[in-house]
Amino acid sequence: MALQGVIDRLKKTTLEEIGVSFSLADILRDMKIEGDNVYLKLFSPSDKYHDFLRKKAEEVLKSIGAQQVEIEFTNEPPKATAPQTPPPPQAQQNPFENKRKIPKVKKVVAVASGKGGVGKSTVAVNLAAALKKMGYEVGYLDADMYGPSGPTMLGAKDKQVLAREDGKLIPPESHGIKMMSIGLLLPSEDTPVIWRGPVLFKALSQFLFDIDWAEDELDFLIIDLPPGTGDVQITLGQTAEIDGAVIVTTPQDVALIDVKKGIQMFNEVMIPVLGIVENMSYFICPETDKKYEIFGKSRTEEVAKQYNIDLLGKIPIEPKVAEFGDLGIPIVLAKEDTASSKAFIEIAENMIRKLSG
Ligand SMILES: Nc1ncnc2c1ncn2[C@@H]1O[C@H](COP(=O)(O)OP(=O)(O)O)[C@@H](O)[C@H]1O
Ligand SMILES: [Mg+2]
Repeated sequence: MALQGVIDRLKKTTLEEIGVSFSLADILRDMKIEGDNVYLKLFSPSDKYHDFLRKKAEEVLKSIGAQQVEIEFTNEPPKATAPQTPPPPQAQQNPFENKRKIPKVKKVVAVASGKGGVGKSTVAVNLAAALKKMGYEVGYLDADMYGPSGPTMLGAKDKQVLAREDGKLIPPESHGIKMMSIGLLLPSEDTPVIWRGPVLFKALSQFLFDIDWAEDELDFLIIDLPPGTGDVQITLGQTAEIDGAVIVTTPQDVALIDVKKGIQMFNEVMIPVLGIVENMSYFICPETDKKYEIFGKSRTEEVAKQYNIDLLGKIPIEPKVAEFGDLGIPIVLAKEDTASSKAFIEIAENMIRKLSG
């Protein structure tokens, strides 16, 4: 097999599926060709990508006639060699650190959860509202490409997204919060969204970088992620500069397993976890004001301690949270004297402290 042929082929094999904009050739650290047998050493900072990269490389090499393919991985960044010629200015040391700043935003916070239905969107929207109430300029980006609920929760279902001549999207505003959601761009709420790797990557990248958030600058952008640790989260983590992540959970033990996964994922893409928010922590009976821990004793504190992560706050189950959510008014703005509104404000304050500390 000809060396140049193999290199050309690796160059053409892009890795869009894992949300990065480079090819196999870009992560090639070493290669040996003996007859039709090929040995490759590839750079990958985390074992998470090994299976994918191995499969991809084997497929490509076998398609051009390789018999045996041996692949090894390294997570060592490239050694600085004494440069004969100065490196081009855009040279990347570590392709997985290829992060860009989201334009016109000072601080970006991603709100994540291991599974759906734990109240991630509720927390994201109310955190945005709490920050707005404190006097900050705030944006909310609904990046839940599979189940966007932002437009409902912010009462923005009928708002229009305008596109400028240069292609930049102008976000509508609701309750003083600039907002953008894939839900606003789809023809109908019931349209199922099936994203394939490259399309997802493109849509998300436009979402992240082509929104004209403010004339001046937003103080905070809150990103509502889809549940889990899938393509969107990884793409986001690898392409955008995120200042921190907030992980939303409920007190059940099963949810805590997902918290651990979430923490690991953010560590891998080098996004600091600002803390955990425990939602639906307890129920206050409206008649008696008595507190009920209906999911049993919470172990969130224990897990937070184990990972050395703050518990930013606990939010009770309060029917009004859901009622006002459905009405499109965040509870923080609708009923400031409720236990949950107070909890959201406290969580926002803790979050700001973590971001500036
Ligand atoms: N603290 C709470 N008290 C009462 N209802 C809540 C609370 N948090 C969330 N909900 C409700 O639970 C449902 C799921 O919340 P949502 O924020 O959409 O979750 P996710 O974004 O994680 O899927 C929604 O109907 C929401 O109004
Ligand atoms: Mg949601």
